[in-house]
Amino acid sequence: MSATRQGHNALLPSLWDDAAASGLDEPGLLLYRSNILGADLRVTNFGGGNTSAKVTDKDPLTGAPVEVLWVKGSGGDLGSMKRDGFATLYQDKLVGLERAYRGLEHEDEMVALFNHCTFNLNPRAASIDTPLHGFVPHKHVDHVHADAVIAIAASENAETLTREIFGGKLGFLPWQRPGFDLGLKLGRMAGDNPQLEGVVLGGHGLFTWGATAKQCYETTIRVVNQAVAWLAANGKEKAFGGAAVEALPAERRREIAARLMPAIRARISTAERKIGHFTDAPEVLEFVNSRDLRTLAALGTSCPDHFLRTKIRPLVLSHDADAAALDSALAAYRADYAAYFERCKRPDSPAMRDPNAVVYLIPEVGMITFAKDKATARIASEFYVNAINVMRGASSVSKYVGLAEQEAFNIEYWLLEEAKLQRMPKPKALAGRVALITGGAGGIGSAIAARLMGEGACVVLADIDRASLDSRLADFGKRFGKDAVTGAAMDVTSEASVEAATRDAVVGYGGLDIVVCNAGIASAAAFEDTSLELWNRNMAILGTGYFLTARAGYRVLKEQGFGGAMVFIASKNAMAASAGASAYCAAKAAEVHLARCLALEGAPLGIRVNTVNPDAVLRGSKIWQGEWRQQRAASNKVDEDELEEVYRQRSLLKRSVYPEDIAEGVYFFASDLSAKSTGNILNVDAGNAQAFTR
Ligand SMILES: NC(=O)c1ccc[n+]([C@@H]2O[C@H](COP(=O)([O-])OP(=O)(O)OC[C@H]3O[C@@H](n4cnc5c(N)ncnc54)[C@H](O)[C@@H]3O)[C@@H](O)[C@H]2O)c1
Ligand SMILES: [Zn+2]
Repeated sequence: MSATRQGHNALLPSLWDDAAASGLDEPGLLLYRSNILGADLRVTNFGGGNTSAKVTDKDPLTGAPVEVLWVKGSGGDLGSMKRDGFATLYQDKLVGLERAYRGLEHEDEMVALFNHCTFNLNPRAASIDTPLHGFVPHKHVDHVHADAVIAIAASENAETLTREIFGGKLGFLPWQRPGFDLGLKLGRMAGDNPQLEGVVLGGHGLFTWGATAKQCYETTIRVVNQAVAWLAANGKEKAFGGAAVEALPAERRREIAARLMPAIRARISTAERKIGHFTDAPEVLEFVNSRDLRTLAALGTSCPDHFLRTKIRPLVLSHDADAAALDSALAAYRADYAAYFERCKRPDSPAMRDPNAVVYLIPEVGMITFAKDKATARIASEFYVNAINVMRGASSVSKYVGLAEQEAFNIEYWLLEEAKLQRMPKPKALAGRVALITGGAGGIGSAIAARLMGEGACVVLADIDRASLDSRLADFGKRFGKDAVTGAAMDVTSEASVEAATRDAVVGYGGLDIVVCNAGIASAAAFEDTSLELWNRNMAILGTGYFLTARAGYRVLKEQGFGGAMVFIASKNAMAASAGASAYCAAKAAEVHLARCLALEGAPLGIRVNTVNPDAVLRGSKIWQGEWRQQRAASNKVDEDELEEVYRQRSLLKRSVYPEDIAEGVYFFASDLSAKSTGNILNVDAGNAQAFTR
């Protein structure tokens, strides 16, 4: 289930469906409830919140019935989690840990003890929120970070508002970092006040409970809706003090994003390359255009999940910032962050992390986020939209208060979080890199795309064939995740179309690192039968197409300023003359020489340009379907299904060449493996003496 978000004022529908829930066991009902809670980002942010059920199960050791706490484990997201996302713990052992608890200063040590409570050898690690579920004396417990509830929880008078809105049905606990201690407090409050349906956690979110899964879910939705309705009825008419400026036209906003994103990326990618995300959704524009933007943005976000993703505060940038203005704004942000780190650090704090901003707010234009990969950048953006919703709600009925700086720091540099970061796998070779591949929906192009995505790159497939593009996108989305790949329908022979596709790539991912010129056709005709139309077609797609794509990419790489890799897919025929295909051969030869000229100009900028020459890649290639295949078979005087063997025997190595073989050569030239190579030609043709380079 992929999460969605509707207007902040609209009431949440109940998604509970008795038919879908019937026949499910208790863990199944818990999973069902979790997935429908996570389906709306207004109920909880991505990866935020957790759910639990106390279920009677058979103890594998004794065979006797025993109470087991099923609770969402560490990692994952409510909306998309599966049954294996839950940790399972002996409930009596977990609550028995109170005897081992030495007090607030030592609460982090309790996390390691959760493992000793594991039921049935379940490998899913229990999260730090586990005691908040375990100590509540109710069967079913939900914890969500609903925007409307956090708006109340992040208001100056949060406790009074909670009482006023929920009429004594919800308790209130002031902000405290979640952990064992907060679990004990929450449990006591629930136990001592049987009339309560839940508790609002100051500056954080909501806990709710019920006797059955359905009752618990419905209570959560009802409480969130009460908050939504109350805010709508009691809020000021003008959010954020009203508009200070108007949004620019949509087209202009994208142009500015395309200019600013590579410029920011160049300045913040010193330690590792970053990937960007841009949004100009209405709620974002309302905030960035508002009078209160700078005041509210400076207060920082409130829910603890938020600033782990977004950093304590965003950076507000003017849309016409030039290089000098960007330099100074970014340097000031870094200095500010370093000062915050120095003020708040403790003797055992981890070292300061990347001091650059994650969130960039641009009045009249929208919001840009940068992170180590696309999903993280997109999620940071979604989190900041949650934060905007919280600030809108809180500041319209009260005064919004961010989390105290030291508290924010304690979460950001929590040793338990640091341990999680240390456990993350090493980034892949092309992590943080963006590649544009023309002809990306074709046989060789899609093999290149898969190779580069497999190494962690984000890929834009640019192709004229919309149908092939759509089916490749669907397939790649499943294999590599939707964030890793986008498509651009374009024609390499049209300057405007190439410029637009390049801009889409830059706005889609924040910049560009790898350009693969690959879109092509094949044609054959005896020289005297070569029509001007056929000649021009070859020149347009293979010559001009490579020129336009390379030029657009080159400009971005130059502007961005940290070099890049361009790879041209030419052909054996660029090296070896071939009878009956003069237009094709001449255009392919032009590509090779264009690559060399570009290598010369690009070298001082760190832009490397290399060529890969395929030959006779029949499998997967659309060129090798239909007419071309028939012609080749006829001219070789064989059946179509014998062609592959003909080409195999023609090669020196007597082997077939596959799209994956070409992709391997491209990967070499696209990655740092070939950092010291430019102006080069690599034949991937199973050996052809005529094509030997000299
Ligand atoms: N397959 C081979 O044997 C072979 C041999 C030597 C060179 N090549 C070269 O490899 C490249 C890829 O070929 P392939 O075998 O994967 O063929 P393919 O037909 O499978 O892929 C080529 C892709 O380019 C796209 N394309 C064509 N014209 C376009 C345009 N004007 N704008 C945007 N996209 C356009 C097509 O829609 C197609 O998806 C070509 O440049 C080709 O000349 C292929
Ligand atoms: Zn929480």
